[in-house]
Amino acid sequence: MDLDLAVPGAAAARRDKLAAALGGRRALLFAGQAPPRNYPDAPYPFRASSHFLYFVGLGIERAVLDVQGDEHTLYVEPPAQGDALWHGPTPGLDDLARAAGCPVRPLGELRAEGAATIPAVDLATRSQQQAALGRSPSTPTDADLALADAIIACRLIHDEAAIAGLREAAEGTTAAHLAGMRATRPGRRAFHVRAAMEATMTERGMTPAYGSIVTVHGEVLHDHAHHHLLSDGDLLLADVGAESRGGWAGDVTRTWPTSGSFSATQRAMYEVVLGAQRAALAAVRPGARYRDVHLAAARALTRGLVDLGVFRGDVDELVADGAHALFFPHGVGHLLGLDVHDMEDLGDRAGYAPGRERSPQFGLCYLRMDRDLAPGMAVTIEPGFYQVPAILGDAELTAVAGDRLDRAALGRFADVRGIRIEDDVLVTLDGHEVLTAAIPKTAGDVEACVSG
Ligand code: GLY
Ligand code: MN
Ligand code: MN
Repeated sequence: MDLDLAVPGAAAARRDKLAAALGGRRALLFAGQAPPRNYPDAPYPFRASSHFLYFVGLGIERAVLDVQGDEHTLYVEPPAQGDALWHGPTPGLDDLARAAGCPVRPLGELRAEGAATIPAVDLATRSQQQAALGRSPSTPTDADLALADAIIACRLIHDEAAIAGLREAAEGTTAAHLAGMRATRPGRRAFHVRAAMEATMTERGMTPAYGSIVTVHGEVLHDHAHHHLLSDGDLLLADVGAESRGGWAGDVTRTWPTSGSFSATQRAMYEVVLGAQRAALAAVRPGARYRDVHLAAARALTRGLVDLGVFRGDVDELVADGAHALFFPHGVGHLLGLDVHDMEDLGDRAGYAPGRERSPQFGLCYLRMDRDLAPGMAVTIEPGFYQVPAILGDAELTAVAGDRLDRAALGRFADVRGIRIEDDVLVTLDGHEVLTAAIPKTAGDVEACVSG
């Protein structure tokens, strides 16, 4: 644990805000623990729960933050016998108290009856929660739900320290994409490019914020296979983001030609996706409804597909019917913060404003967020175009387009399996800032970087 990463002032201010929102009710936030790979002494790397990390500023395995009114106490496990031998010296309670900006006590002293919490995603931490609270955390109480809402209110609008963390993650993500473009050439495999991208993170003391997607099968939205050969004429889709040393996420996708040159059809479709991304970005400002940002991307994409002859008909009607979702089946993005899909463990409570619900329509049903944007929010903007056999071969799904879909025209774009263009965007007082703007994005800039 690197105590230099501590942000005691920011963490204390966040706790004060949480305590005020809870109106004196008591809450416990659990850091969690690393799951074992095959036996307890061979764990996966530890990554603290983002709720804990946000209010403490440091990831401390198995620790619990107790917030009640003005009293904030961190409970930590004292070192076990043998820890110094196998893991080296560990910080003392006083060191941790300075780093977290609150008193620190041994975990054995925690008494927690009646406290609210957020259910952990892993079973070991759920057991720890059950033991501490004397009840199952899996069935949330009203107090648990009120805690979730209070946390959402805090984490939704990023403070200065959070924005600095997001900028750091964006910088690491930028370096990764530049390295990935430069490492690409036909004959290599996707894992060579992934290695180059993730090496830039390791050099910065960072890690991937999520499982890197580096694939010539862009039509597989979350393809985690990396063994595919890069052939001349392929597009490579890289959805790769760095996690800053303090835990903040980057999440960027670029799509580039393995040869360094787009074919005419790839270039034409790339321009359509880029136009959709620009249309969505132009809609990002305080007060804008995120669903409308999504629909701006859908309309621009559909207009582009009409221009290419893939669709016939009226753009607004095609979008209202959900025809665009045959090629752009996911939402335009999501909240970004300490989690790549920030707070998604809290479900649509985080992504959707009270009173708003997911649409049942194919495509819109995958929109992960529908809030009005406000300064300090961070979101991704990531439209795409994909030829997914499971969609285009499904008579029920394609019926929404009917004869407005021209399959002969679509056939001309057989060398485009999937294109996604994703950036990380901070909502500002008068508009937005693209945090990842330094990553090549125009077709020409991408080609120059791959060939350079
Ligand atoms: N990297 C996952 C996503 O873009 O949502
Ligand atoms: Mn992504
Ligand atoms: Mn994303």
